[in-house]
Amino acid sequence: MEKYMIKGGTPLTGEVEISGAKNAALGIVAAAIMTDETVTIENLPDVRDINVLIDTIAEIGATVERVNRHCVRINGSTIHSVHVDNEQVKKIRGSYYLLGALLGKFNKAEVTLPGGCNIGSRPIDQHDKGFTMLGASVKIEYGMIVAEAERLSGAHIFFDVVTVGATINVMLAASLAEGNTIIENAAKEPHIVDVANMLNSMGANIKGAGTDVIRIKGVSKLHGTEYSVIPDQIEAGTFMFAAAATRGNILVKNVIPKHLEALTAKLYEVGCSVEEYDDAVRVIGNPIQKSSQVKTLPYPGFPTDMQPQITVVFSLAKGTSTVTESIFENRFKYVDELTKMGAKIRVEGNIAVIEGVDGLTGANVNALDLRAGAALVVAGLCAEGYTTIDDIHYIQRGYENFDQKLRSIGAQIEIVDSEKEEQKFKFQVI
Ligand code: EPU
Repeated sequence: MEKYMIKGGTPLTGEVEISGAKNAALGIVAAAIMTDETVTIENLPDVRDINVLIDTIAEIGATVERVNRHCVRINGSTIHSVHVDNEQVKKIRGSYYLLGALLGKFNKAEVTLPGGCNIGSRPIDQHDKGFTMLGASVKIEYGMIVAEAERLSGAHIFFDVVTVGATINVMLAASLAEGNTIIENAAKEPHIVDVANMLNSMGANIKGAGTDVIRIKGVSKLHGTEYSVIPDQIEAGTFMFAAAATRGNILVKNVIPKHLEALTAKLYEVGCSVEEYDDAVRVIGNPIQKSSQVKTLPYPGFPTDMQPQITVVFSLAKGTSTVTESIFENRFKYVDELTKMGAKIRVEGNIAVIEGVDGLTGANVNALDLRAGAALVVAGLCAEGYTTIDDIHYIQRGYENFDQKLRSIGAQIEIVDSEKEEQKFKFQVI
């Protein structure tokens, strides 16, 4: 099994280019099949979850032309099935966007129950509620979500919780419904705005994305477009926090600094310097960083997808910090792995109390999910000695060329697949 092997202790310095946003691209690839015309998507991240979704739309008949690693041309006129089920798609969460896309286009969709990271109970009741209010019947049968409507009609939908997935899914289906839809208590993440912009560039009429009320006037058909995915704010944040944790100096390029404000604010609080440019941010770590508090919240609050990474930064700060997780109830499982590396963390319910330590030490740890895995990599880069991280397939779901990008800024990290390769790595690194 492939693992990352890291020799830590080197401050990361240099420049790194951020890829397209995975969680925006998932919605955008699904949206692309809603027209019979050709859609070209650029700045796609070359990561496992996106590649699985693209292979899956090809499997149901969409014509897919890979222009290059980051660009794909999709034509949905050749789709011959609304039944989405394969071993790979079962493992990703973004598969559920094919429900909204296929239901909008064909009034029927059968999609395997979504997988994704095990970070707590991840119900889909709000997706169900949204589709039902648009006039569909939704049931779960043999592990599949089956949604069907004679016709979809606009509706006034008030979500009980702020949900990214259901907001995007209802936007997709409602774009081709008859009449007007209003989504209240909508999620406001940058990827919601990106999917709405993409749909609008296909002829949809969506207003208010990025606020908590989204208004959609259904149109009878969508057309082809060329669209470029926004940069991934979580990948960017991971590198920003890696600069802080390793006391490095990284210019993180191809970002939208506005999307990173919650992260920038915390970096200032702990004592880092942050310089903002038009499409880049530089983070300079401080030898002595301060403790702080953070609570995860829907955008524009501090993202849950950055929670494990900030825990690593706090682990190396002076004093006691707290991290409150308010989105997913089971997102602290990685704490046991971090404590193997010498972190001092106590979890009480949904709060982690972190007592800063002077340093971490290398250990053999497991990536339990995507963001936790990325956080362990950051911890390994700070730790004295060697760290090995198992189950890196989780990390590869959402970080493009993570090890390569890290090496380009001075990290000593390799993918190793055998004891011999581990020995070779130890021999090669200084
Ligand atoms: N929720 C419900 N009912 C629903 C849907 C959600 O109660 O029908 C609850 C969830 O249990 C959670 C909260 O609402 O407590 C927010 O869930 P949301 O729907 O926003 O999350 P998601 O769509 O399952 C996406 C990202 C996650 C990211 C969250 C929050 C994708 C594919 N996944 O998940 O990304 O953590 O939004 O921003 O877009 C990741 O990239 O590592 C990742 C886990």
